[in-house]
Amino acid sequence: MGAACMLLAASHRTAQAEVLIRFSHVVADDTPKGQMALHFKTLVAQRSGGRIRVEVYPDSQLYGDDDEMEALRLGAVEMLAPSLSKFGTVGIPEFEVFDLPFLFRDLAQVRCVTRGSIGRKLLHRLSRQQMVGLGFLDNGFKQMSAGKPIQNVQDFKGLRLRVQASRVLAAQMRALGAYPLVLPFGETRRALAAGVVDGAENPVSNFLTQGLAPVQRAVTLTSHGYLGYAMVSNPRFWASLDAADRAMLTQALNDALDQGNRLSADMNQQALVTLRKDPGVQVHTLSPAQRDALRLAVQPAYDDFERRVGVSLLRQVQRDCAP
Ligand code: LMR
Repeated sequence: MGAACMLLAASHRTAQAEVLIRFSHVVADDTPKGQMALHFKTLVAQRSGGRIRVEVYPDSQLYGDDDEMEALRLGAVEMLAPSLSKFGTVGIPEFEVFDLPFLFRDLAQVRCVTRGSIGRKLLHRLSRQQMVGLGFLDNGFKQMSAGKPIQNVQDFKGLRLRVQASRVLAAQMRALGAYPLVLPFGETRRALAAGVVDGAENPVSNFLTQGLAPVQRAVTLTSHGYLGYAMVSNPRFWASLDAADRAMLTQALNDALDQGNRLSADMNQQALVTLRKDPGVQVHTLSPAQRDALRLAVQPAYDDFERRVGVSLLRQVQRDCAP
């Protein structure tokens, strides 16, 4: 490179603006989402030579379920990874397809949806609500917890169960004879401890890292529903980046999401090993007959989804990504 070119390149480099990305989320660092966020931060620091900084705010420190989407819209944060269940209330009910109980048998089936044309369409759909959809991340499958084992349909009767703000999840709990109560994730532990709610549904990694074990004596391995996330940014912020930065951030995010998706199943498996060692918690499993009875009982949640979103998306998931 000639001296003039080197000078030009150097001045271009110094002229490149510093960028700050505030990434807020509601779970602990030691979860699939928490680890993905920290890995993204490291990759961005390395690949930008420290010029682009990612600040990660875990555990609802900055914003919680009630205000994080609004904060993104207003430009108070640049990135979020809300669970897919939380997009229905901001005008994208199609995302609640992921909440349908017993729809997915394993992560391979979920990934067929998120990595295929349906996933691309859903990410694109976010633009109508002033968000840029950048990718999907798994947590895993949810397990039911309460003060007593809940294995049979009659065990759910009359229980107040915390749900995320998803109509499908509320319909699922009602179909089981329970009362769904929508609460922000960050307030769930306190509500369980105070007896405001009797139980909840969480992947084991969230259950453990939120310290729910001392306030929920029984976990039943129902794996009845999926919990995953969509990585989103603010469109004005995203458009304000220069093309090279946007490409670098997209690549760093894809790499971090790949790593998070590789880690998620292991982290939940490891969390279960830890949970089983806790003498204060009983871990129950379901017999095939109990599982079938639950599956049958939650069918009204499907009617609810179809009424809200239409059958075509559900049929496409069932047709293109059959187990
Ligand atoms: C929940 O509210 O239960 C989850 O969405 C929390 C999370 O982000 O994993």
